[in-house]
Amino acid sequence: MQFEDLKPKVISIVNSEITRDEKLLEICKLLNASIEYYNWVGFYFANHEAKTLHLGPYVGAETDHTVIPFGKGICGQVAESNSNFVVPDVSAQDNYIACSFTVKSEIVVPLFVNGVNIGQIDIDSHVIDPFTEKDERFLEFVNKQIATLF
Ligand code: SME
Repeated sequence: MQFEDLKPKVISIVNSEITRDEKLLEICKLLNASIEYYNWVGFYFANHEAKTLHLGPYVGAETDHTVIPFGKGICGQVAESNSNFVVPDVSAQDNYIACSFTVKSEIVVPLFVNGVNIGQIDIDSHVIDPFTEKDERFLEFVNKQIATLF
């Protein structure tokens, strides 16, 4: 499915009559089911006092990494940089937290609410170098919709 076809589906989940966490989970399911190379889709949310990220709703293999300190791994770096992080090949990254040997690449896009980086969407892929600027623009769109829920 193309990103343009997914956008109205994301909006309809955001506007549906379910809880915020249920909406986040439905978005994970939609993305995971629709884009072949999205093999793990989840959210992390920041605790700015403790400087840690906490796993939120996700779809895919269970992960031990439910709490990630700021600065650690791809996710922890995005908590500090406030910028998208596209990793075409995770084996080339020093500061990376491996979840599974099947994961070859990763994209993390921060979630801003009123200019504050409150968390992120994290996507793992089993293929090398699948992510383009189209993924970045789409995931920025998804996060903008989600930001209206906070
Ligand atoms: N690989 C991430 C850790 C989270 S898992 O992908 C679910 C990282 O390096 O931050």
